[in-house]
Amino acid sequence: MKIAVLPGDGIGPEIVAQAVKVLEALKLPLEMETAPVGGAAYDVAGHPLPPATLDLAKAADAILFGAVGDWKYDTLARELRPEQAILGLRKHLSLFANFRPAICYKELTAASSLKPEIVGGLDILIVRELNGDIYFGSPKGIRNSPDGLFTGAREGFDTMRYSEPEIERIAHVAFAAARKRNRKVCSVDKSNVLETSQLWREVMTRIAKEYSDVELSHMYVDNAAMQLVRAPKSFDVIVTGNLFGDILSDEAAMLTGSIGMLPSASLDKNNKGLYEPSHGSAPDIAGKNIANPLATILSAAMMLRFSLNLANEAERIEKAVQTVLAQGYRTADIDTAGMKRVSTSEMGDAVVAALS
Ligand code: IPM
Ligand code: MG
Repeated sequence: MKIAVLPGDGIGPEIVAQAVKVLEALKLPLEMETAPVGGAAYDVAGHPLPPATLDLAKAADAILFGAVGDWKYDTLARELRPEQAILGLRKHLSLFANFRPAICYKELTAASSLKPEIVGGLDILIVRELNGDIYFGSPKGIRNSPDGLFTGAREGFDTMRYSEPEIERIAHVAFAAARKRNRKVCSVDKSNVLETSQLWREVMTRIAKEYSDVELSHMYVDNAAMQLVRAPKSFDVIVTGNLFGDILSDEAAMLTGSIGMLPSASLDKNNKGLYEPSHGSAPDIAGKNIANPLATILSAAMMLRFSLNLANEAERIEKAVQTVLAQGYRTADIDTAGMKRVSTSEMGDAVVAALS
């Protein structure tokens, strides 16, 4: 089985190195090939997603991705910015289904900014649509306004769009995921204002009839943002569009104590996937060996489970992560009094040691 390893920018290379170390320790028949992506690829090849990197990603059975982005690329034209690499991979490989679990490990309850009784034992899953919405909808651009109060003034515009088949396929993913959990789906939209959301809600309600064992509820996105901090444990699976999912998944991440703990999977219809930590490239701490590699290590576990059919090995990694937390190992982002502070690479070593 072939894995494309795309470390990217900022802390990407350090954290991906730990996940690779853990995968190697499992001694599986995996062939791992590394390629540059994001700003790192722009520096060597003049483009954030060079053809050779895209070809490798297409040929691989799964992709292990670090993070992209650094302030030094902020002045580049949009199509050359590091973020275009991840957006391009999602689109070119039709990775439309994004799984973002938010789990609050009992050892880390104190690291959350919310009260322990609100977040203790939290285990929710955000299913975010990843190929449509205002992220990719055309037309978009900056032009001179053709109408309205400020006709002729420069204006920026983007288009929010979802077709029925796009909503249907993400609905099926969410309902199927709920069947393996607590059988509740909350669909988040803004149907009191947006036509796109009205169609979204209609389709969700229709597809729900095929999953009579799963309970569907609907919530406006502003209320969902509030309920996520008020009573996050009332959710099981949240399904939402690309933009709302981007925002709500960062909010959900903070419920768990640290965004440094959260893995994610982006899958196509055949379960080929890209696996990345939910956090970004954190250029401010890059190269210091202090970043938390656990989200990337847990992403590698998701990769084994979803794309490579190696559920037992995935579980070994997840158990090892729980073991190192129970042993008191903490990177800076999740450290609390009385724990053992470790570096990025020491955390990777601790997980390897806990595998056996
Ligand atoms: C994410 C990120 C990306 C997104 C950026 C880097 C384009 O915020 O994966 O959530 O907006 O989807
Ligand atoms: Mg985001």
